[in-house]
Amino acid sequence: MKRGWVAYGPGQGHAYGSGLTVTLDRPDGRDGGSARPELADVARLARRGMRAVIGAARSADRPTLGRIINAHFGDQISAEIVEETWPGYEHVNVQAGLEAWLGADGRQFNLVGITGFQHAMFGLGDLVSQDGPGGHPFALGPGNPATVNLASGPDGQVRPCVRCGLYLVTEGNLRTAVLLRGARSEFGQPRVSVEILSSDPAAATRAAAEIRTAALEHNVFRGQVLSFGQEVFGHGETLLQFHPRPGLRADQLILAPGTLAEVERQVVGVARHKARLLSAGQHLKRGLLLFGPPGVGKTHTVRYLMSGLTDTTVVQLTGNAMHLVGEACSVARSLQPAMVIIEDIDLIAEDRGMHPGHHPLLFQLLNEMDGLAEDADVVFVLTTNRPDLLEPALAARPGRVDQAVGLDLPDDAGRRALFELYRGALQVDTSGVDDVIARTQGVTASFIKELIRRAALLAATGAAAAQPIAVSGSDLSSALDELLDTRNAMTRALLGSQPSRRRATSERS
Ligand SMILES: Nc1ncnc2c1ncn2[C@@H]1O[C@H](COP(=O)(O)OP(=O)(O)OP(=O)(O)O)[C@@H](O)[C@H]1O
Ligand SMILES: [Mg+2]
Repeated sequence: MKRGWVAYGPGQGHAYGSGLTVTLDRPDGRDGGSARPELADVARLARRGMRAVIGAARSADRPTLGRIINAHFGDQISAEIVEETWPGYEHVNVQAGLEAWLGADGRQFNLVGITGFQHAMFGLGDLVSQDGPGGHPFALGPGNPATVNLASGPDGQVRPCVRCGLYLVTEGNLRTAVLLRGARSEFGQPRVSVEILSSDPAAATRAAAEIRTAALEHNVFRGQVLSFGQEVFGHGETLLQFHPRPGLRADQLILAPGTLAEVERQVVGVARHKARLLSAGQHLKRGLLLFGPPGVGKTHTVRYLMSGLTDTTVVQLTGNAMHLVGEACSVARSLQPAMVIIEDIDLIAEDRGMHPGHHPLLFQLLNEMDGLAEDADVVFVLTTNRPDLLEPALAARPGRVDQAVGLDLPDDAGRRALFELYRGALQVDTSGVDDVIARTQGVTASFIKELIRRAALLAATGAAAAQPIAVSGSDLSSALDELLDTRNAMTRALLGSQPSRRRATSERS
């Protein structure tokens, strides 16, 4: 057997990479057919040899990324590569910023996609020096740009974003290459990156700064309602979701007199009088804590605040995303005016660190609040039904939360107003309403809402389908009897109301 050949028995022989096939004697010495070369074999061999030579010669002409980049620069390529990175969830903004930068007057570009990018770790420097095709089936090479549609608005708007692409930019005599790569969490790289190489190193630095500025200026998160979450499957990527802004009017929120004014002054008032407060040397950043039992309207109040501040970027943190406090604050800081909403903040407080009494996430939040510039127009709205858990930590680090507003169970007047609100246009016999108000002491707003729905359901069940629903006095009292029935204790608990327990307590005392 000749060296350098990978040879098998008759009919199976092939040589890896050469395109030549030879048939040799079997290693076991047995005759595998006619093993002696004939004239036809020589001609066949010559033809194949010629094909292999042509293939090899042409592969030297095939464009590689390195050759494409070098052709773009001519001989004026500089050695300095400037890199900017952003968190992975900013990809859509980086794309928007980069496109705006590319669209500037006098700038032209070609976009070259990169094949095989999913399988390799590489940077722009590696592409510049890439000369041959590499031989590997997943080798990097020029191709169509791979894109992914990323959310860019609350109503399903998306923007196609390049996952990995090389922009070759021409601006007069200046030549620039920009490599855009999305985050690769599977490679432990959760950031989106832009690498820039230019014929003038100063231009590369300038371009990096301009792209960063453009990504902020064209940021699609600005003025939107966003929530942070975490991908449950896959590589645990941080996700930012868009939400439609709620539209809740003041007359849809029933709070004790003076409460809403207090909340609004702190949140909306400061935003409204921003310029005058700043010129009077007053700070803008502020923190509001809404506390009270379940079902009294803490979340409802937050919705109302979001509805009114239409230009404000809202960043919500809930559930499994509590540890993304730093990210949420960073988005809020760069997209002012902004509101950071952290509901059920007691969940953060319950996150205990290595030592008893330590609340790393809560302290991180308080540090983030503290670290904001005085003139930052960022409001933190926190809610909890366990103020007792938070008080010691907040008291230990005063000044971050500068207003705590308690929401309580609705009093008689509150329940009456809630009854009117949730009744809406529904036809109701109101002769028994006084009785309803008297019997619902200690219930939540959500209880009243459910009471009216139940009464409407009873009325609907008893009447002809064609008739509009008309709730009688007896529908109303039956619905209330049902909800107050001992068997409905669980339902009451779910509505945040335990009137029977409260009555029992007052009866005992
Ligand atoms: N003050 C209120 N005025 C009008 N409707 C209310 C009020 N409070 C609660 N509701 C109604 O009850 C529903 C539940 O209330 P909400 O979610 O705001 O309670 P919460 O205080 O945030 O409770 P939790 O502590 O369980 O989060 C609201 O969606 C709203 O329909
Ligand atoms: Mg709530």
